[in-house]
Amino acid sequence: MKDESHRLGLGSFKALGGGYAVVRLLLEEAERSIGRRINVGELHEPDVRAVAAGMTIGCATDGNHGRSVAEGARLVGAKARIFVHDDVSARRIAAIAQFGAEVIRVKGTYDDAVAEATRMCAANKWLLVSDTSWPGYERIARLVMQGYTVLAHEALEAMVDPPTHVFIQAGVGGLAAAVAGYMAILLGANRPAFVVVEPSRAACLLESIRAGQPVKIDRGEATVMAMLECYAPSLVAWRVLSRAADAFMTIDDEDAVMVMNLLARPTGGDPAIVAGESGGVGLAGMLRVAADVNQRAALRLDADSRVFVVNTEGATDPGCYEELVGLTPNVVLSNKPANCKASSR
Ligand SMILES: Cc1ncc(COP(=O)(O)O)c(C=O)c1O
Repeated sequence: MKDESHRLGLGSFKALGGGYAVVRLLLEEAERSIGRRINVGELHEPDVRAVAAGMTIGCATDGNHGRSVAEGARLVGAKARIFVHDDVSARRIAAIAQFGAEVIRVKGTYDDAVAEATRMCAANKWLLVSDTSWPGYERIARLVMQGYTVLAHEALEAMVDPPTHVFIQAGVGGLAAAVAGYMAILLGANRPAFVVVEPSRAACLLESIRAGQPVKIDRGEATVMAMLECYAPSLVAWRVLSRAADAFMTIDDEDAVMVMNLLARPTGGDPAIVAGESGGVGLAGMLRVAADVNQRAALRLDADSRVFVVNTEGATDPGCYEELVGLTPNVVLSNKPANCKASSR
């Protein structure tokens, strides 16, 4: 298990994507306006800072992505406008605002926040840095996904032999596609089997695979896996996963909570891992398959398998973690609503 709960002090792997895209986009803009090649070591040069000071970055979020974008903007000296929907708590807003970003509330759902961020960015010539993509908006979401590939790179470096299986959780599919695409390109014929794991209450990729095309699903009951509660796949992620994933499956809220507890109280000398509600979902998927003789055979999962999973977040809602695990998390980051049941992504 690759543990992303400490990533860049932001508590989730999302720290790798939005901030990276902001830096890349600033370098492009600086090259255009200064008229020479600029490398990342020059981010703090006065002429580059001056370009950044004229830039405003926008995005929609309900937590981790907005934080990453806000931190990236602060790092380079740009302004950030982060759009959040109705259900986003004051605590989460504060966690984004601490990076100097202006947080703008939007009536409705995450989708409404995406629509408003898109509209406002177009109207004001702000740069939209989204973690999801749709027809006509792909390039920047791809940069965000490229940022995620760092974790796959680090994981392969740390392994003696590459994995035979990857069980990876998905919201819009950006992370799963980044890992699957990266490993497929690097490992070729030796690539592992990829299993995409979603909450049963928000399985937009599974339904898209069934339909043979990306589909938006109806919003149902909220899932405890708040960061995976997405109702439409990212177009770029869909293109990768519809080719590179071998299986799609769902788990239930109870599985997600069970695995949080399992990771908090390991046996056999394994270190304890603090996993938030969406953190251990890939592992929960693997355990489900391992418990079913037919699924195990279908995926050739056996005693010789080397399985790779990612803990994608720590206790990003400490109150929720305590409620579900009965322990005080040692990684305390508050970027999600206090009510762990009634939340969207
Ligand atoms: C902790 C965590 N895990 C997994 C995901 C899923 O990533 P994606 O939406 O790219 O599939 C997210 C997305 O926000 C997340 O915050």
